[in-house]
Formats: sequence, C-alpha cells, structure tokens
Amino acid sequence: MRQKRSSLVHLIYFSRLNLSAEPAVRARELGEITRQAQKKNEFAVVTSFMIVEGNFAMQVLEGERQSIHDTFQRISVDQRHREVQIIEWREITKREFVTSFTCVSRNGTNDTHFNKAALLPALQRGTPRGAAIHALAITLQSESMSRQGIDHLFV
Ligand SMILES: Cc1cc2nc3c(=O)[nH]c(=O)nc-3n(C[C@H](O)[C@H](O)[C@H](O)COP(=O)(O)O)c2cc1C
Repeated sequence: MRQKRSSLVHLIYFSRLNLSAEPAVRARELGEITRQAQKKNEFAVVTSFMIVEGNFAMQVLEGERQSIHDTFQRISVDQRHREVQIIEWREITKREFVTSFTCVSRNGTNDTHFNKAALLPALQRGTPRGAAIHALAITLQSESMSRQGIDHLFV
C-alpha cells in the first residue's frame, strides 16, 4: 500500500506592502521578492500563489507543515511588508497551486476577477475571508495556465 503523505498544510495570510509608489521601482521590488521566493520555495518544496491588490498582498502557501512554518517565520519578519496576519492555516489533502511562487497584481486584463472577488473592503476592515482569497488565486492561476495552453494538464 502507498504510504500516506506526511502532513500537508496550507497557510493564507495578508499584509500591507511597504513598496514604492513609483511603478517601475515597485515592479523591480516585486521582481526581487519573486526571485528570492521562487528559489527558497523550490528548495523547500513549497508551492504558492500571491495576489497584489493595491497596497495589500495575500498569499497562499502550501507544503509540509515544517516547511510552511519555516517559510512563514521568514516572511513575517520581512520589512517589505507589515501587519502580516494569518487568516487560515489547515491540513489539506492535495496541493492546488503548481508553481513555487507566482505573483499576480490587478491589471487591465484580470480586473473583472478582482472586481468579482471584491476583496478590498474586507482587506481594509482587516477581515478578508480565506476562501475568497483562495478562490481568486485559483481563478487567476487557471486563467494564466489557459493563456499558456497548459490547462488540460490540470483538470
Ligand atoms: C509579500 C512577500 C512574500 C514573500 N513570499 C515568500 C515565499 O513564498 N517564500 C520565501 O521563501 N520567501 C518569501 N518572501 C521573502 C522572505 O520574506 C525572505 O526575504 C526570503 O525568504 C529570504 O530570507 P533570508 O534573507 O532570511 O534568507 C516574501 C516576502 C514578501 C515581502
């Protein structure tokens, strides 16, 4: 019989970004976070999806319990964001995200999804729902995969 996988968890948090208001600088700063996170997450076998809405970041992290613990320890003390708050942390049976780190910001092509999710008021009140963030992340991931023509691999 196949061995049961050791415990897989996901953690969803949100925070306020301390990034530049200047678009080019901000893009470079997000690029730097992406580069670091991809490298570390690949090594720790962590998969994740980050959404940026205005000055808020929301991220779903998936992996072995200890890897998620260690990763979040680092993330939570990073000066590039503040007020880092965990919304949900629980065991999951399978991963839902395919890359070590993908970051999607609201833009001209995906804003219908952001509008439908309507996360901003809840973020401002400090009460976003984990399920709403997770659902938007899944939608943005599927859209990005179908644009790349690889959606049939993940049905
Ligand atoms: C919004 C945000 C998301 C991040 N996501 C990750 C992540 O998924 N994985 C990760 O290892 N580091 C992530 N980082 C970077 C870490 O905070 C940290 O800078 C990086 O892991 C390097 O840590 P070290 O300097 O202690 O080696 C993120 C940082 C920010 C600001």
